[in-house]
Amino acid sequence: MKVLIVNGSPRLQKNSYNIARYIAGIMEKNGVDHEIIDVARLDMTPCIGCGVCSRTGVCFKNDESTSTVKKFDPSDATIIVSPIYFNSVSGQLKMFIDRFQSLYASKYDLKQPAIDRSKKRFGAFIAVAGAKGYEDQFTSAELIMDLFFKVINTKLIEMLRIPDSDRVNAWEDKATLDEIERISLRVIEEAKMAKQI
Ligand SMILES: Cc1cc2nc3c(=O)[nH]c(=O)nc-3n(C[C@H](O)[C@H](O)[C@H](O)COP(=O)(O)O)c2cc1C
Repeated sequence: MKVLIVNGSPRLQKNSYNIARYIAGIMEKNGVDHEIIDVARLDMTPCIGCGVCSRTGVCFKNDESTSTVKKFDPSDATIIVSPIYFNSVSGQLKMFIDRFQSLYASKYDLKQPAIDRSKKRFGAFIAVAGAKGYEDQFTSAELIMDLFFKVINTKLIEMLRIPDSDRVNAWEDKATLDEIERISLRVIEEAKMAKQI
């Protein structure tokens, strides 16, 4: 079983970065194969909407994003951690997500899916926002995730909202860490059960 942990923050040693590593530690403890994808460290450029993937099912760009997109088909679960930027996900994560247009095109334009649609995959989204909670702080990010997880044929089973992270370090808050552990264990459990069926 393989779990992908996606960190959407460009900041080292901060909330999303540390949470991603905390989740990796939980995977390690449970003997689950995993990989952290720090999207801000990928050598990638944005989707330019050229339409090539609508005809070929693959992106014409040969950068790290193209090779990273391919990791999602064999995966069993994905946990994404992102900062909230202007009520959305970080620009780096959005740029990464847009590069999955090739996957979308392979399924819906070409009807030749580049991902096994029958495989049961499970996912979670954890969002970290600097300000104290306010209305719709997480709404846009969650809408993006809802569509993204559909595109990667992964059932989004948990979303966690962590506000006030500019005041309280999420990776030092026991209640937050306990919730992240519960979510991670649930994702592992669901993916394991699906593999047994
Ligand atoms: C460009 C930018 C935009 C931001 N926009 C918001 C926002 O709309 N709402 C909010 O609550 N916090 C916002 N923040 C604060 C971040 O969500 C917060 O600092 C978060 O902890 C960053 O995640 P990280 O620690 O994992 O890097 C913004 C920060 C930056 C740099």
